[in-house]
Amino acid sequence: MALTVRPLHDLFAAEIGGVDLTRALAVEEVSAIEAAIAEHAVLVFRDQRITDEQQLEFSRGFGDLEETRGTGISKPGELRLHPAFADVSNLDTDNTVLPRDNRRRLYGLGNMLWHSDSSFKAVPAKYSLLSGRIVVDEGGETEFADMRAAYDDLDDETKAEIADLVCEHSLIHSRESLGFDDLTDAERATMRPVRQVLTRTHPVSGRKSIYLASHIGKIIGWPVPEGRAFIRDLTEHATQRRFVYAHKWRPFDLVMWDNRATMHRVRRFDSTKVRDMRRTTVAGTAPTVAQESMAAE
Ligand code: OGA
Ligand code: MN
Repeated sequence: MALTVRPLHDLFAAEIGGVDLTRALAVEEVSAIEAAIAEHAVLVFRDQRITDEQQLEFSRGFGDLEETRGTGISKPGELRLHPAFADVSNLDTDNTVLPRDNRRRLYGLGNMLWHSDSSFKAVPAKYSLLSGRIVVDEGGETEFADMRAAYDDLDDETKAEIADLVCEHSLIHSRESLGFDDLTDAERATMRPVRQVLTRTHPVSGRKSIYLASHIGKIIGWPVPEGRAFIRDLTEHATQRRFVYAHKWRPFDLVMWDNRATMHRVRRFDSTKVRDMRRTTVAGTAPTVAQESMAAE
């Protein structure tokens, strides 16, 4: 059966049918998915009862995967899932719900802020693939904002102003903005800021987008408060409801998005309910801008 594409929003996001992610895909199917994501930026695959192994296999079809080791606050012995997974569930290694004041849970609340995955890494993520194994009935939607449409809607003066700007992104900034500052020196060392352009051009679609995330703490060359105020303004613009698709999860949905063209966030839900979400992440291939030399740090 041929792959089907059904738009879910006026601007972006589409539901993909006619594909079974539990089996190996043909080369043409992978190319069709790549073409669809270049256009729609967010793809929803329904009823995909995949195992972790099948999710890894499907994800690897699009490139090398990021390992979560070395970022965030989970130590190797504390992983519930294979290290190529970002465990965005609210579960402990024994599959019990994390208590309210659990450190990993509080750290994970950063996902409620608008972001693009791994923008805090020198080479940021390309695609993310999130599988909803156990979803919540109320709340817990994942919202996506189309950063291409948000860019297109800027006036020419703002487009010119952001054309060559570079920002610093760090996990320290997004976590501290929620009041989570309980980080060890070793953790801070892995979270040193990286630089990213503010205007990106997509390599396949050629469309420009605003590369925003709550990890941004500074615009290079600008006074810090002025940079942060401007980033807030741009974020407010870029996340207006007309640019947002809110995904209401059904069990075994797999949502795949292009981090180069979108931001996302999770909405509140009852934290005593199990929400088992497992993400694989396809690594990007190059930095968006030359990084400061490590020797200077
Ligand atoms: C992610 C993420 C949001 C969610 O997996 O990258 O931000 O809905 N998740 O859990
Ligand atoms: Mn994310």
